[in-house]
Amino acid sequence: MPAKRRDLPIGVFDSGIGGLTVLKALRERLPGESLIYLGDTARLPYGTKSAAAISHYAVQAAHALVSTGIKALVVADNTSSALALETLRTEFPGLPVIGVVEPGATAAGHASANGRIVVIATESTVQAGSYPRAVLNSRPGAQVRSLACPLFVSMTEEGMVDGPIAEQIARHYLAPLFLDPEPALRGDCLLLGCTHFPALAPLLHDLLGPEVAIVDSATTTASAVEDVLTHRRLAATHGTPHIRYMSTDAPDRFARIAAIFVPWPLTAEQVELVDIG
Ligand code: DGL
Repeated sequence: MPAKRRDLPIGVFDSGIGGLTVLKALRERLPGESLIYLGDTARLPYGTKSAAAISHYAVQAAHALVSTGIKALVVADNTSSALALETLRTEFPGLPVIGVVEPGATAAGHASANGRIVVIATESTVQAGSYPRAVLNSRPGAQVRSLACPLFVSMTEEGMVDGPIAEQIARHYLAPLFLDPEPALRGDCLLLGCTHFPALAPLLHDLLGPEVAIVDSATTTASAVEDVLTHRRLAATHGTPHIRYMSTDAPDRFARIAAIFVPWPLTAEQVELVDIG
């Protein structure tokens, strides 16, 4: 393997800004790797769009990243991972394409004691049924319920990740699944199947209590990426790791909302405006 390819950045793609939760996990897990993030904020949300539109957008976003020179593509967007992963793998043969569905589902299969797992995601991800299929692959016999929580996306982007209103909305969605009067029927694992939802994890943990394991796809995806890089001998060996940000709309909003998802400061000047359509 020529050193050059190993030292290219990993491309990370999301419909918007929430995928920074995956970028953060990648930075923590793989501090020697350079990363290039593209948020398709102009066409956000993907979570309410048709499968055809999502695949079309995902391929365009992937082409934009590939044209900058990347060694692997991480599809941080759950909706694209659920609906467009195979299309992307066909479109870019030879490029490792890692989605978030399988790593998250495998982690949930391991984390649940009673096999009652609830997946929360966008509407399109839920309709695709990819999470339940992936959970059942890793944990045959599991009882998986999926629930679309569209309000969680806008709440998070408004910075409403705690407080009484956020708690009421979370209770509205989740109480029927986790607070069943019959303890044996209660879910014991909540899988966060959307980029934005890790920001709500502390609130959800307080609401559901310690008996419900909360699993997100971000950290498990980062370790899946590490495995792929090791296996393909693509781990970086040289160079100073850096992060580059690209957005298809409003870099100033991107930089502002980013503060909800990553602990490091970001300015609008650091975010390149790109046209990928
Ligand atoms: N990034 C999306 C996901 O993880 C959430 C936002 C959207 O609907 O585009 O499914």
